[in-house]
Parts: sequence; C-alpha cells; structure tokens
Amino acid sequence: MTLCILTFILFSQTLIVGFSNALNVTVTPYPWAWHPVGENASLWCSVSQKRRPDSLLTVRWVFSTEPGHEQVIGRITKSGAAHIAANWSHRGDLSSDNLDRGHRYRLTLHDLRLTDQGHYICRVQEVARHKSRWTAVSNGTAATQLRVSTFMISEEKKLFSWKLFQDLYLYAVLLCCVGILSLLIFLLILLCQTIFQKRRSRALVMRVQVRLTCYQISLAKRKEKETSRQRLPQLFL
Ligand SMILES: *[C@@H]1O[C@H](CO)[C@@H](O)[C@H](O)[C@H]1NC(C)=O
Ligand SMILES: *[C@@H]1O[C@H](CO)[C@@H](O)[C@H](O)[C@H]1NC(C)=O
Ligand SMILES: *[C@@H]1O[C@H](CO)[C@@H](O)[C@H](O)[C@H]1NC(C)=O
Ligand SMILES: *[C@@H]1O[C@H](CO)[C@@H](O)[C@H](O)[C@H]1NC(C)=O
Repeated sequence: MTLCILTFILFSQTLIVGFSNALNVTVTPYPWAWHPVGENASLWCSVSQKRRPDSLLTVRWVFSTEPGHEQVIGRITKSGAAHIAANWSHRGDLSSDNLDRGHRYRLTLHDLRLTDQGHYICRVQEVARHKSRWTAVSNGTAATQLRVSTFMISEEKKLFSWKLFQDLYLYAVLLCCVGILSLLIFLLILLCQTIFQKRRSRALVMRVQVRLTCYQISLAKRKEKETSRQRLPQLFL
C-alpha cells in the first residue's frame, strides 16, 4: 500500500516536471474568434517564456477542420524568417514580434471564406545548439477556433433591428387586440346589466300595476256590494 502511494507520488511528480518542461503557449482570441465572410482575421500566438536563454523558437501554424486532418499554413524559422505554404500565400500573412517578455506571432487571414472555418493550431518548438547541432529542448501547442458567418456585420445589425421592429409590431398588435377585446367585454357586461335592470324594473311596474288593478277591482267590488246592500233595504222597504 505504502509502495503504491510512493510510486503514485513519484509518478505525479514526474508528470508535473514533464508539464513544467513544456512551453507556455497561448493563442488569442480564445476559445474562438468570430468573423463575417469577407473580413480579415488576426490570430496571435504568444510564448511567455523560453526554457533556456540561449535557445531559439520555431513556429508552425496549422489549420485543421477535423482531428487528424491538418494543413500547414506556414512556419517561422529560428532565424525569424516567415515561410507561407504555396496555397495560402495570397490569403495569409505571418509575422513575429519580440516583446520584452516573450514572443508573439501573428497569423492574418484575408478575405475570409466559409471554408476557413476550423481550428488554428500554433505549434512552437524551442531549439538549442548542442554540439554544433540544433536539437529540440521543449515545445508547446495551443489552438483556437475560427467561426465564419455568412452575414456581414451591417446586414446582421439590419436583420437584428428588423427582427426587433417585427417583434415590437407584434407586441403592439397583440396589445391592441387585448385592449379591443376587453373593451368589447366591458360593453357586453354593461349591455347585459342594463337589459337585466330594465326587465326587472318592467316586472316591478307590472307587479305594481297588477296589484293596483287588483286593488281597484276589489275596491269596485266592495263598493258594488255596499251599494247593493244599501239598495236591498230600499227594495225591501
Ligand atoms: C502562460 O502565459 C500566460 C500569458 O501569456 C499567463 O497568463 C499564464 O499564467 C501562463 N501560464 C503558466 C502556467 O505559466
Ligand atoms: C483586409 O486586408 C487587406 C490587405 O491588407 C486590405 O486591403 C483590406 O482593406 C482589409 N479588409 C478589411 C475589411 O479590413
Ligand atoms: C494546400 O495544399 C495541400 C498540399 O500541399 C493540400 O493538402 C491542401 O488541401 C491545400 N489546401 C487548400 C486550401 O487548397
Ligand atoms: C515535444 O517535447 C516532448 C518532450 O518535452 C517530446 O516528447 C515530444 O516529442 C516533442 N514534440 C515535438 C513535436 O517536438
């Protein structure tokens, strides 16, 4: 068990040493860059620190659309000379700056096409002279993804504003519809209420009239009775 742990620690330490031996390479923009068709795009590959002060760097820019399928765009030799592949020569540009701290390599692609979409990989190798021969000391790799869209920026903006306008228009129409509908419902309720009230008042009037006529009739009957009662004694007299 202890042996296991010890070997594990040793193994992880060698791993860490192995990693720290690698060059710190970064590509920007990262993780992806977005450009419309027809624009120029620039990608930067930075190497923050070399392993050895007397060493030189060689850089290779590689294009890949799928894993295992790579095309070399161009390379920068240890003397700083840029060589671009024949079929990229009229489309791309390579340059390098030596900064105070580290190095920076630029890849510019002109007049972007949809087929330029993919991964752009920067492979850096640090070489040093060893017994009058240049040998690799360390290396590092970084990549970013380029996305190319069919719309120009202005078109995209236009499309966006048109869509926004359409949405606003839709909302306005919807709001209007809701307003009209609620107004109609309100009017309907008002109409129903007035009709109901009218009917009720008419029924009340009718009831009052009926009672009145009933009362009148009973009054008339009573009067008749009274007169007949008054008449009877006269008749008998
Ligand atoms: C690598 O370099 C970048 C700057 O280029 C820095 O931000 C980052 O911390 C470095 N990473 C390591 C592991 O040194
Ligand atoms: C792209 O680069 C070319 C060459 O440097 C330049 O002539 C052109 O104006 C650039 N296009 C854009 C959209 O910046
Ligand atoms: C460039 O040439 C290589 C062969 O040298 C080929 O495999 C690759 O497909 C070509 N790329 C383009 C964009 O034509
Ligand atoms: C990069 O360096 C490692 C050791 O640091 C080595 O094993 C590997 O083969 C190197 N790769 C290239 C492409 O030089």
